[in-house]
Amino acid sequence: MKFPSFSLRTKIILSFLLVIIFGGLLSLVTGSRLIKNTLISQSQDKVRHDLSAAWMVYNEKLNDIKEIVSLTADRESLHDYLKNQRYDILQKYLNRVREDWGLDILTLTDHSGEVLVRTRNPQIAGDDQSQDEIIRWALKRGVVAHSQIVSREELIKEGEDLADKAYFKFIPTPKAVERPENEETSGMILKAAASVVDEDNDLLGVLYGGILLSRDYTIVDRVKEIVYKGAQYNGVETGTATIFQHDLRVSTNVPTTEGGRAIGTRVSKEVNDAVLIEGKPWIDRAFVVNDWYITAYEPIKNIRDEIIGILYVGVLEQPYLDTANRVMASFGLIAVLMVFLLLVILYFSTDRIIKPLHRMVEATEKISQGDLSHKVEVTSSDEIGYLADSFNKMTTDLETANAKLIDWGKTLEKKVEERTQELTKMQAHLIQSEKLASIGKLAAGVAHEINNPLGGVLIYSHLLLEDTEKDSLQYENLKKIVKETSRCKDIVRGLLDFARPKDPDMSQIDINEIVEKSLYIVEGQSLFQNIRIQKNYSSDRPRIVGDNSQLQQVFMNIILNAAEAMDGDGTISITTSHNSGEKYIDVLFQDTGLGIQDEDLKRLFEPFFTTKEVGKGTGLGLAISYSIIQKHQGTIEVSSQTDQGATFTVRLPAKRKADEF
Ligand SMILES: Nc1ncnc2c1ncn2[C@@H]1O[C@H](COP(=O)(O)OP(=O)(O)OP(=O)(O)O)[C@@H](O)[C@H]1O
Ligand SMILES: [Mg+2]
Repeated sequence: MKFPSFSLRTKIILSFLLVIIFGGLLSLVTGSRLIKNTLISQSQDKVRHDLSAAWMVYNEKLNDIKEIVSLTADRESLHDYLKNQRYDILQKYLNRVREDWGLDILTLTDHSGEVLVRTRNPQIAGDDQSQDEIIRWALKRGVVAHSQIVSREELIKEGEDLADKAYFKFIPTPKAVERPENEETSGMILKAAASVVDEDNDLLGVLYGGILLSRDYTIVDRVKEIVYKGAQYNGVETGTATIFQHDLRVSTNVPTTEGGRAIGTRVSKEVNDAVLIEGKPWIDRAFVVNDWYITAYEPIKNIRDEIIGILYVGVLEQPYLDTANRVMASFGLIAVLMVFLLLVILYFSTDRIIKPLHRMVEATEKISQGDLSHKVEVTSSDEIGYLADSFNKMTTDLETANAKLIDWGKTLEKKVEERTQELTKMQAHLIQSEKLASIGKLAAGVAHEINNPLGGVLIYSHLLLEDTEKDSLQYENLKKIVKETSRCKDIVRGLLDFARPKDPDMSQIDINEIVEKSLYIVEGQSLFQNIRIQKNYSSDRPRIVGDNSQLQQVFMNIILNAAEAMDGDGTISITTSHNSGEKYIDVLFQDTGLGIQDEDLKRLFEPFFTTKEVGKGTGLGLAISYSIIQKHQGTIEVSSQTDQGATFTVRLPAKRKADEF
């Protein structure tokens, strides 16, 4: 799989984004959990307090009933009427008390628990209430108040309307516990009973009174009023309170969807199990009727400490959730803004990194195209600045190295050229030497063979000449024979000189002196009458080691050749010089003669090469000179251009001592 190639900036921004989004989501999730949990636990704390307040209202009501019953039972007039059996007056009196104080029931029994006066339902009297646990307690003297479940039968006795008020047909409730019955006939009553005792402390009877909680909303509405102060959310009251008879809502302000009170519905199974069966308080979120509430439930117990119902308070969960969501939404908005801000900052800060990098890439391109003088302009003093500095330093070094290389290249080329020239010269010398050596061998062989017979011819022709009359015809012919044979003898000697030159007789000599001696010998000849000699002698010259007469022979031949080439009219310049290291001495002979043609230059040092007419030159002069200079470990060179004269250069090693040869 190939990933698309992103720019450096995109990569940096993407990695930052990844971290931010991941981190942001993580903190949003944990944050929302934290906020929800905090809000819910706070609301649970609140609802726990609300439940305590509800208990206060509940118990206050119970105490009120207890007070009324107790105070009424203590009234002396009541005692008097009771002693005098004035039940009609008692009926009126107690009925007024009941109505004044809003009690549902107020009933008087005798000291055995038999009903004497039943204010709400006067027709029914004489029944025995001594089995009722609250009455039984009061018969033992004292005042007692408690919640109590009263059967329909008992309720009918107190008033049929009360029994009807207590009757509920169960409204089907999801999540409620399955029950075999589908109605509730008994009712839950807040009931107080007080013993009626005369001044002699004789028990005259028991007065009991109470209110039926079923469909009586005084307590729950008061709880709502005191605790929640009618707080609303979206038109719905948030705080609710309920009194359950067992699991049945008998008094509540939890609304139904139609807006009524949700009486007749039942509590959910989990609350039922926790509160009614296990007797524990329940504080948690719960689905009440048709909405989620944060709730608190606690069991209501009767005088025997048996659980007979539940007191409940709860607040709508929605406002808390909405608050949490609002907080989260603000967090989210802030997070998005921060991401946006960060992106902007990232964009500009990556710009500071990427621009110099681009400049460096441009620079490398320019450098690769050969522009080594190009510099990167980065002024920042961070890592990028250092990088640019190093880069610039590197290009400067590269430039210097390159310049050096070019220099070296040039020097190398020059050196190669020089060496090549030297090599070519050496090769030419070598060829020349080999050529001369082979010709020399051949010539020497021939000369040796010819020399002796020639000696014989010369001797006998001399003898013949001596014996011949000077006037005779043979005399002139013999003279010619002697002359030509002598010439042959000279040639043969020259040949032998060239081929087997005598070993030089070395001594320390001054080159200028040799040149002078050579000139001295030739200058006397008629050929030199019209020739000017120009001398440029080096004054501070090293002495050389060489054979006096042999070198003289060489110089004489060169001077004579020059004079002959100028046909006796011109200038011969003779220059002696030495190089700075005093390793060799040069002797230059320049003439203003005819010069030498190119094709002749190559053959100049060959024996018998001559341009002179037969009999005038042997063509051995330069060949012999060459072999002499070679013996002196020197060189002889010629340069010439037609009609511009010729230059012969004899180079001899400058040696201070004779034994260095
Ligand atoms: N300075 C010069 N200018 C022009 N040509 C020259 C010069 N020196 C030598 N030569 C040519 O080189 C030839 C060979 O010279 P070399 O001295 O070997 O023999 P030669 O002078 O002809 O005879 P020899 O020297 O034996 O009398 C000459 O014949 C001449 O043509
Ligand atoms: Mg010559």
